Amino acid sequence: MPEPLFFSAVESRRTVRDFLPDPVPQEVLDRCLDAARLAPSSSNLQPWEFVVIRDPKIRQAANAACLDQMPAKTAPLLIALVTRRDTWRRNRDEILRVFESRGPLRPSQAAYYRKIIPTIYTTGPLGILGPVKRLASRAISLFKPTPNLMAREDLRIMAHKSTALAAATFMLALRAEGYDSCPMEGFDPWRVKALLGLPRGAEVNMFLAVGKRSEKGVWWDRVLMPREWAVREI
Ligand SMILES: Cc1cc2nc3c(=O)[nH]c(=O)nc-3n(C[C@H](O)[C@H](O)[C@H](O)COP(=O)(O)O)c2cc1C
Repeated sequence: MPEPLFFSAVESRRTVRDFLPDPVPQEVLDRCLDAARLAPSSSNLQPWEFVVIRDPKIRQAANAACLDQMPAKTAPLLIALVTRRDTWRRNRDEILRVFESRGPLRPSQAAYYRKIIPTIYTTGPLGILGPVKRLASRAISLFKPTPNLMAREDLRIMAHKSTALAAATFMLALRAEGYDSCPMEGFDPWRVKALLGLPRGAEVNMFLAVGKRSEKGVWWDRVLMPREWAVREI
């Protein structure tokens, strides 16, 4: 049975670029953030951080770093969604801690998080191991199916994929609550990194302007590519 509430949230979500000034209630925001935290992520490492900007000075600088785009300027709330590929070790340890608190670690869990994950995530000083790992995987793949053992750029892509899924979950949850959003990748990544004091291995995936749409919030009619360009059965 289709879930009508889910489909109505999916269909009514639009990118909103002009917001009413009404604030987003904390309990609504919390529910949506907690929904986003349930998004799937590679190896369940949850490489994301939602930075909710409350400080007016930081907000002003963030608006400017978002090129003073209309959604940033009008939204009552601006969130920087950060991809944290630097947190894999901490998060891996947390997964192991939680598993162990629930009973003896299964051999498959121990092997995956103690051996395979470090092999994937370790790229050595200046990332020099990365190309070696990638080349080795490519060579083995000529003989048998092999996963990419990941150079630094591959790890970046992997972390951004998972973070974008959390963004999508968050935006749909907002819609289910009657709120709107605008995802923004139009920003100055260097200024934003300095503004938020992000460490190496962390970068903003996208900004999310959040609030309730004004009458002129949706700028353009929806345009969908033909279904056969988007879906192919083989
Ligand atoms: C990753 C990503 C980055 C985007 N960046 C911007 C942006 O910087 N500014 C903006 O106005 N819209 C931005 N958008 C919104 C898209 O233009 C919008 O999703 C698209 O036109 C489809 O419209 P809809 O979301 O209303 O269906 C972005 C969307 C995504 C997914």
